[in-house]
Amino acid sequence: MNLIEQIRAKAFQLQKTIVLPEGTELRTLKATEILLRDKLAKIILLGDPQLINGIAVREGINISEAVIIDPTTDSKREQYALMMVEIRKSKGLTLEQALESLNDPLVFGPLMIKAGDADGEIAGAINSTGDVLRPALQYVKTLPGVSVVSGVFFMLLKDKSIGENGILVFADCAVMPDPDERQLAEIAVTTAKTARSIANIEPRVAMLSFSTKGSATHLLVNKVVNATRIARELAPDLMIDGELQLDSALCSEVGQLKAPGSLVAGQANILVFPGLEAANIGYKLVQRLAGAEAIGPVLQGMAAPINDLSRGCSVSDIVNMVAITATQAG
Ligand code: ACO
Repeated sequence: MNLIEQIRAKAFQLQKTIVLPEGTELRTLKATEILLRDKLAKIILLGDPQLINGIAVREGINISEAVIIDPTTDSKREQYALMMVEIRKSKGLTLEQALESLNDPLVFGPLMIKAGDADGEIAGAINSTGDVLRPALQYVKTLPGVSVVSGVFFMLLKDKSIGENGILVFADCAVMPDPDERQLAEIAVTTAKTARSIANIEPRVAMLSFSTKGSATHLLVNKVVNATRIARELAPDLMIDGELQLDSALCSEVGQLKAPGSLVAGQANILVFPGLEAANIGYKLVQRLAGAEAIGPVLQGMAAPINDLSRGCSVSDIVNMVAITATQAG
């Protein structure tokens, strides 16, 4: 079984409830039909039921087993609004403002999760990353002991000799524009956990830089060196090394030459980039130029799984991301 087949099999076993706030979006409805047919999750669609059912009938899509909830009229609005006021009391949120915000499915979805009415959420087919993430960060918040939400890609390479049988995990490709050294350390530790839990990968984490073991001197290099030290303090058993250049991380001859004695150099399966610019550009380079399949972004560090789609996503991307979200919820 390849990685996606493994994830789908896990989702099938778990039968989690996933809320899709973009209930009137066509790819989302087509994905819902497949998810329900293959029994990968229970699906809640948010939006006007008449509108959603109308699109489904017009397009010949069977979503009869989906639960459809209208955030503007649902009976739980008052309960959710009171929760919002409690969570945002230090920000002065009023009940009236909370009720108004709940008209937005991107706010309603995270509140369903917070209340235990859904296990996870996927959105982003027609909304920006920021609009999907902000309510999730405000109401679902981070896991205990984690301060940073970040996003990883599982890069499935044609060359199976690289990484873990052709799988490399890249972080953070999606959320934190410019992490400080503590945040970068947390991203490394959280990514190792994600790699283990989703892909059964025993992590070998490379903290990437433009320098290997002091070959260059710069504040940006210091950040990666310090982040590696902090990550070791946070997770003493984690196999992690830095700072490493990309070739030192992946090519054994270069690794042995530039970082002799390193247990990670030359055989890394997790690449932690120093910032979002490098990571986001890096995953797209590998995807476009090396023809790798990029699965993600899989968001990590949130108290419940909420994932963001690219606006260019396909129906099968949505199906896969729902399966991943269900797996994370498990
Ligand atoms: N982890 C945990 N909490 C966070 C994080 C984070 N990474 N970022 C923000 N927060 C919290 C803030 O502390 C704040 O909490 P509070 O309201 O309780 O005080 C809340 O989330 C909202 O933060 P804001 O500062 O109001 O929101 P901001 O505008 O910074 O938005 C966001 C955060 C959306 C994640 C922003 O950092 C962002 O846009 N990141 C880049 C996303 C992106 O464009 N990625 C590339 C595209 S994805 C792709 O190509 C795969």
